[in-house]
Amino acid sequence: MTGKEINGKDISLEIRGKLQKEVAALIDKGVKPGLAVILVGDNPASKTYVKSKQKSCREIGMESILMEMPFDTSEEKLLAEIKKLNDNDDIHGILVQLPLPSHISEIKVIQTIAPKKDVDGFHPVNIGRMMTGQDTFLPCTPFGVMEMLKYTGIDPEGKHAVIIGRSNIVGKPMGQLLLRENATVTYCHSKTSDMKSLTNQADILVAAVGKPKMITADYVKEGAVVIDVGINRDENGKLCGDVDFDDVKEKAAFITPVPGGVGPMTITMLLYNTVKSAKKTLNHRNQNKDVVK
Ligand code: GUN
Repeated sequence: MTGKEINGKDISLEIRGKLQKEVAALIDKGVKPGLAVILVGDNPASKTYVKSKQKSCREIGMESILMEMPFDTSEEKLLAEIKKLNDNDDIHGILVQLPLPSHISEIKVIQTIAPKKDVDGFHPVNIGRMMTGQDTFLPCTPFGVMEMLKYTGIDPEGKHAVIIGRSNIVGKPMGQLLLRENATVTYCHSKTSDMKSLTNQADILVAAVGKPKMITADYVKEGAVVIDVGINRDENGKLCGDVDFDDVKEKAAFITPVPGGVGPMTITMLLYNTVKSAKKTLNHRNQNKDVVK
């Protein structure tokens, strides 16, 4: 397909190139950005994501440590490991891969991560900061979508953005970030009646439902921007999104593919947030030096 397709890989490469230079500059000043990733259990999809995150860190010169913990790890043990990482000055970002086994409280885990190291942007303090327009770590997937819109020259101001899905990780923050950029936002979810009548009003349609190819052309207004956050397997085991790409592509003005759309951007924004955290550490250190002088 031609200019319609928003290529997340290319945009990611550009941002990662800039980050690589920032990492080198930080290392020169004695701070190597470090990300700690904790994986509990052996969910195959989570394993793949985590390996990809680690590889991406190393590619731009960052440090990345992976802590693999067995499925039956107690909540207490996990919280204790997080606290150690909170106190470790070489670690600037902590990510606990979700979902967690059901005997562990996700909320407790997220709240135990120090907000200044919460590079996922999931801590309630950081969510509150995002909602009130303060500087913080933005959740990586919605942040990545906003960057894709920016790089493509799509200004959300005055547009009607319809989000399908209301997860804490994607749907909810996605709406907030679009609202911050002056879009009018509608959320659709599994209890929404007559969803198509709403999605057909969307100038920007974001699908984050986790249902393979659910969004067909009849959900989409002619000329809409269609952002596909889904990562699913189709009936043949092939990766696909929440949007039926072949059905929707002719109707959309812009559309993101799966793979190669939002996916690479999520990891890129994780790298961005970790570099940002490392820069803050350095600034802090320098400020404290000034005080001593
Ligand atoms: N599981 C799926 N997506 C994410 C993510 O962005 N961060 C974490 N921590 N877990 C996830």
